[in-house]
Amino acid sequence: MTLPEAQQAAVKEAMPKHVAIIMDGNGRWAQQRGKLRMFGHQAGVKSVRRAVSFATQVGIQSLTLFAFSSENWRRPEEEVSSLMNLFLTVLQREVKKLKNNNVQLRIIGDTSRFSEKLQQRIAVAQQETADNTGLVLNIAANYGGRWDMLNACQQLCRQVKSGALDEQQITEQDISTLMEENTVGDVDLLIRTGGDHRISNFLLWQTAYAEFYFSDVLWPDFDDDAFGKAIAAFVSRERRFGCTGEQVQALLNNNQQNEDHFA
Ligand code: IPE
Ligand code: IPE
Ligand code: MG
Repeated sequence: MTLPEAQQAAVKEAMPKHVAIIMDGNGRWAQQRGKLRMFGHQAGVKSVRRAVSFATQVGIQSLTLFAFSSENWRRPEEEVSSLMNLFLTVLQREVKKLKNNNVQLRIIGDTSRFSEKLQQRIAVAQQETADNTGLVLNIAANYGGRWDMLNACQQLCRQVKSGALDEQQITEQDISTLMEENTVGDVDLLIRTGGDHRISNFLLWQTAYAEFYFSDVLWPDFDDDAFGKAIAAFVSRERRFGCTGEQVQALLNNNQQNEDHFA
């Protein structure tokens, strides 16, 4: 089969290597309990902790969580500033635990719009976990898929202008590489909680061949069982990357024969 190596590997791999989650439904969760929306965001932090621990246990390599979109600044000022305070507190409180659990933390998005204090906290948290070799945890904050692509385009333009790159030679891989350097790579499984079926400007480039899984569970209720169901759905799907089902089966059979041969 003429699939690129990375996609051949993705077909053979049962477990998703990179899971991304749109953590939606905090506000509704709180409102259902007659509480302020912020109560839902606080409860959502517990779900983040749980998801990180689950991802580590089942051997997921990268987990990318959408915490704050570039459009979320449109929310009432009070909610935005409370969310900023929550990020600050959580970063301060959790970094030691992440460090001890061998998790490498990366914040993706345009952090330049955050307060100096928050930017400093982010830098420290990233530094402190930089040498960890376990789960890569990407938190998308002030992130937008279009912003991510625009960034890559600007960098490409600079390379062309400086003569380092010929515009006729630009490949998809060049763009992927630039985006991976700054943000994250291809997603295998994209989960959205909270019942809506949209991408809300999350990882537009990186989800080109992701499997999508939508859950009605509101984010604060997203537990190991709900995460497990998403993984089970992923495992049961056939990823074809443009090929036919027969071609994929042939690739898998071939792989099985090789495994039997070396067993
Ligand atoms: C997602 O939950 C968290 C953020 C966007 C920060 P929401 O706050 O969007 O919750 P709902 O969708 O209003 O219930
Ligand atoms: C997407 O949720 C962003 C995050 C989960 C951080 P939203 O609640 O902001 O998405 P829309 O507005 O319903 O599309
Ligand atoms: Mg929402």
